[in-house]
Amino acid sequence: MSGGSSQSRLLVKGGKIVNADQSFVGDVYIEDGIIKQVGKDLAIPGGARVYDASGKLVMPGGIDTHTHMQLPFMGTQAIDDFYTGTKAALAGGTTMILDFVLDQKNVSLIEAYHKWRGWADPKVCCDYSFHVGVTWWSEQVKQEMETLTREHGVNSFKVFMAYKDVFMLRDCDLYEVFQNCRNIGGLAQSHCENGDVIAHESKRMLNLGITGPEGHSLCRPEDVETESVQRAIMIANRVNCPLYVVHVMSKSSADVISKSRKEGKIVFGEPIAACLGTDGTNHWHKCWRHAAGHVMGPPLREDPTTPGYLMGLLANGDLECTGTDNCTFNANQKALGKDDFTRIPNGVNGVEDRMSVIWEKGVATGKMDENRFVAATSTNAAKVFNLYPRKGVIAVGSDADIVVWDPEATRTISAKTHHQAVDFNIFEGMVCHGVTVCTISRGKIVYEEGRFNVAAGDGKFIPRKPFSPYVYNKILKRKETFDPVKVEREPYTGPVVVIGDKPQANEDTKARNLHHNTSIGVGGMHVNLDKDAVHTTTRVSVPPGGKSSFTLY
Ligand code: URP
Ligand code: ZN
Ligand code: ZN
Repeated sequence: MSGGSSQSRLLVKGGKIVNADQSFVGDVYIEDGIIKQVGKDLAIPGGARVYDASGKLVMPGGIDTHTHMQLPFMGTQAIDDFYTGTKAALAGGTTMILDFVLDQKNVSLIEAYHKWRGWADPKVCCDYSFHVGVTWWSEQVKQEMETLTREHGVNSFKVFMAYKDVFMLRDCDLYEVFQNCRNIGGLAQSHCENGDVIAHESKRMLNLGITGPEGHSLCRPEDVETESVQRAIMIANRVNCPLYVVHVMSKSSADVISKSRKEGKIVFGEPIAACLGTDGTNHWHKCWRHAAGHVMGPPLREDPTTPGYLMGLLANGDLECTGTDNCTFNANQKALGKDDFTRIPNGVNGVEDRMSVIWEKGVATGKMDENRFVAATSTNAAKVFNLYPRKGVIAVGSDADIVVWDPEATRTISAKTHHQAVDFNIFEGMVCHGVTVCTISRGKIVYEEGRFNVAAGDGKFIPRKPFSPYVYNKILKRKETFDPVKVEREPYTGPVVVIGDKPQANEDTKARNLHHNTSIGVGGMHVNLDKDAVHTTTRVSVPPGGKSSFTLY
C-alpha cells in the first residue's frame, strides 16, 4: 500500500464511480499514477491529497480515437498542434488521443512514424498513441507495417479510398494491406468514399459554377460513402481482416455496418462528435466562413435526422467508439478555397467537446445511460485498440486517467471560450449538460474548474500490442472454422479443347498448389504468415452450402 511520495498520492472521495459495466458510490485511491484501491472505507496512508467528488460522477477519462494534430494537409497545416489540442482534450475530460501518422506516398512508414513522434513527444499534455496511414503499397511498406507492430507499438493502419492521387489506394492495394494487417495482428481502418467519383463530380460542380462549400457536399452524396463502406467490408472479409470504419457520417453507411455485423463480419464503426452533434445543412449557410468551417470528408450530411440516428446506433452498440477527426483550420486557412471548394482544407474541431456533445445528445436525451456513455467514449476504444485494462476503466492496476463529471451543470460551447487554437467551433452556441469539473491524468490533477496544471511533454506515448483480443479472438476462430475446403474428387480425364496450337497446360493450377504454410507465434497466438493468407492449404471450389465467404449466418 505504501511506496509513493505523498505528492503522488491522491484520494478521489465519495463520487459515483461509473464504469462501462456498473456504477457505485465509492473512493478511488491512486499512487504513482496507478489506481491502487477502489471501494468504500479504504485504508489510506497519511499525506494523500483528498479530492471531494461527492455528488459527481467519477469516470474513466475519455479516449478520442481519431485526431490530426498539426497535420500537414491540403497545402497548409492543422492549427491545433499536439500542445493546444491535447490541452483542450484535458479540459473536455479526454485523457488520451489516438492520432495519425499520415505522410505522402513513397515515404517510409518508419521515417514518418519517427517524424510524428518528434512532433508529438515534446508537446503532448495527455497520453497518446498512433495509428499509421498506409498511402501506398510495396514490399517495403509490407515489411514496415510489420516492424511498426513488432517494435513501435502500432496496431492500427488507416487506408484511404478517397483523396485520389494523394492518399487513395486502389482495391488491389486495399486487398494487400488488409491481408498484411490480418497477418501481423493489426486493425485495418478505412476512410470510405469513392475517390474516383468525387474527382469527376468535383469537376462537374465547378463547371456548373458551383464553387462554394455546398459543392463539397453535392459531389459526395451519401451513396459515395456507402458504396465504399460496403466495398471495404467486402475486401476485408475476403481476407478475414478486422475492419474499423473511421468517421461514419451517414445513416446508410451505418446501416451497412450494422447489417454486416449481424452477418458476423468483424467490422467496427466510429461516429465522430461532428456527425453526432451537427449536420451538413451548414454547408448552405450564407456566411462563407461558417459554411467552410463545416467542410470535412466524408461530409456532414444534409439530412438533419442523421445525428440522432447515428446516436441511436451508438447507444445500441451497432457503432462502437467515438472520435472527433479533430483537424482544425483557421479562417485564413479555409480561405485557400474561397473560389474553389476543392481547395478548402478538410477538417473540423471536436477534441474538447466530444464528451459534452455525446452526453448532451446521448445521455440527456435518454438514448444511452451513463455506463453506455463510458463504453462509447472510453472503454470500447481501449478494448478495440488493445489498451484495456490499462486504459478505459477505473479498476485496481489501471492508469489513473479519470474525469470527474458534473452531469447537472451546463456550459455553452463557443470558440470565444474554448481552449483550442482554432478560431471557429462547429458546435457554437450548443448548451450541453455534463461538464468536466476535474481531469486526472496518470494520477495528477491536470485540470480543475478552468485551471490547468500541466506542461508540454507531460503526456506519454502508449505503445499497443497487435492481436487485440477484443478484435482478434473471433478472427482467429473464423480462420479455423471458415477456411474454404477443397472438394476431393477424381481428376477429369476427358478431352480438353485445344486453343491455338498448344493443349492448355495446367501450369496455373500446379503453381497454385505449390504453397508455403509458414506460421509463427506472435503475441502468444499461432499466426499464419502465408502470403496467401486465407487460402493456405487448398484451392476453393464451392464448399458445401454453396458459399466461399466468411459470412457466418
Ligand atoms: O476532413 C477530414 N476528415 N480531414 C482529416 C483527414 C481525414 O480524412 O481523416
Ligand atoms: Zn479520413
Ligand atoms: Zn481523420
